[in-house]
Amino acid sequence: MTVPPRAIDPTFPTGFLWGAATAAYQIEGSPLADGAGMSIWHRFAHTPGRVNNDDTGDIACDHYRRAPADVALMQSLGLKAYRFSIAWGRVLPEGRGRVNAAGLGFYERLVDSLLAAGIEPMITLYHWDLPAALDDRGGWLNPDVSDWFADYASVLYRRLDDRVKRWVTLNEPWVVVDGGYVHGALAPGHRNRFEAPIATHNLMRAHGAAVMAYRAHGHHEIGLVVNLEPKYPATSAPEDVAATARADAYMNRQFLDPAFKGAYPREMREIYGEAWPDWPARDFELIRQPTDFLGINYYTRGVTRADADAWPTLASNVRLDNAAYTETGWEVCPRAFSDVLRWVRDHYGNLPIYITENGAAMKDEVAVDGTVDDTTRVDYLRTHLGAVRAAIEAGVDVRGYFVWSLLDNLEWAHGYSKRFGIVRVDYPTQRRTPKASARFYAGVIASNGASLGRIP
Ligand code: BGC
Repeated sequence: MTVPPRAIDPTFPTGFLWGAATAAYQIEGSPLADGAGMSIWHRFAHTPGRVNNDDTGDIACDHYRRAPADVALMQSLGLKAYRFSIAWGRVLPEGRGRVNAAGLGFYERLVDSLLAAGIEPMITLYHWDLPAALDDRGGWLNPDVSDWFADYASVLYRRLDDRVKRWVTLNEPWVVVDGGYVHGALAPGHRNRFEAPIATHNLMRAHGAAVMAYRAHGHHEIGLVVNLEPKYPATSAPEDVAATARADAYMNRQFLDPAFKGAYPREMREIYGEAWPDWPARDFELIRQPTDFLGINYYTRGVTRADADAWPTLASNVRLDNAAYTETGWEVCPRAFSDVLRWVRDHYGNLPIYITENGAAMKDEVAVDGTVDDTTRVDYLRTHLGAVRAAIEAGVDVRGYFVWSLLDNLEWAHGYSKRFGIVRVDYPTQRRTPKASARFYAGVIASNGASLGRIP
C-alpha cells in the first residue's frame, strides 16, 4: 500500500523575512550624477554591440531620482525587507581613497526611508559594477583588489552598520568570472582562460577580506551570495556523469568550497588545465572566514551532457521536450530548488540561508488599461515558494526570501528586452504598475505564506 505524501502547511516560520531585490546598475540610472565615478558596466554598455539594442543604464528605472516613491511602492506591497546593491563608484569615484559624500548620502537617505517605512535593508556591496578606475589597474586580476574592496566596504560599515543588519559581500562571483573573464558576455568582457582562475581567486580573497573588516567595524550579519544551479546528468553514460560533475564544480562548488571548506574542487584543474594555479595555503585562511548566513539565488537547474565544444567545462545543458522554459531559456523546475537547499545543508552544514533572489522573465502582456496579468510568473513564484517551504519542512534553516525583482530593469547584456519585475516599468513614462504577481506576493507576505494553500 502506498501512503500519500503528507501535504505541508504553507505557513512560514514566524519572523520569516519577505523581501524583494534589485541591483544598482540595473535600476538607478544617473550613473555619473553627483560626482560618481564611471563603472565597468557604464563603459561596457557604452561600447557598441555589447548590450542588446545598445541599451545602457543611463536612465534605467530612474531609481536614483525616484527612490522615495519606490520605497512607498514597496511599503504598499507590504515588503518586510529590500535587498539592493551599492554602486562602489558613487561612494569612491576612483574606487579607493576619496569618499564622495553625495554618493554616500544617497544610500544613507535610502536606508533611512526604508527603516521609516518598516522595511529592513539588506545591502549587497558588489553587484558587478566595479569602478572603471580600478579596472584600469587590473580590476579583479590585481591581487590588491581584496584590500580595495575591504576599504570600500569599511566606509559603508562605519556609516551604515548602526542601521543595516544584513550585509552581502559579493553577488554571484560565478557570473563575474564566467560572464566577465571566460565568455566575455558581461563587463569587462574578457575571454581568457588564464585570467579566469585569477579572477575567481581574487573575488574570494576580497570576500574574505570584507568579512574580516566587518568583524572590526560591524556588529550584525554578513554573508556571501551565490547563484546555484544544481546539475543532473542527461543520461547515465559515464561521460555525461563526468561532465555533470565538472559543470557542478565550475558553477556551484567553485565558490562554496573555498568559502566553507578552504579548498577548490579538484575538478578545477581538470577544467582549466595548466591555467589553474596552485594557490598559497594562507590565502584560504583569508577566504574561509566564518560568515553569518549564506545567500542563495536560484533560477533553474541544468540537465547536463558531455559536449566537446562547450569551453571550458566540456559540458552543456540540454533542452527538454516536456518542460516549461522562461524567456531567458531557463527550465522551470521548483523540485530542484528544494534539492539544492538540502544539498547545501548536507555538504556545507545547516547554516542560516536567505533566498536572496528567485524569479522569472516572462512574456508580459499589457492590457489596454495598463494592467499585467502575469499568470506564468505567479505560477513560478507559487511553486518555488512551495519548494522553499518544503525545504524548511525538511530541516533547512531558510530565514527569508527575496523575489527577483521588484522592478523590470536592465537585464545586463539582454538590455531591457527581458522583464523580471513583479512591478512593470513603462520606460518612456517611468510609470510603475504592480503586476498580478505583485498582488499575489503581497498576499503571501500578509498571510506569512498561508495564502499559498497546502503544498503538495
Ligand atoms: C543576478 C541579477 C539578474 C538575475 C536574472 C542574477 O544572475 O544577480 O542581477 O538580473 O540573475 O538574470
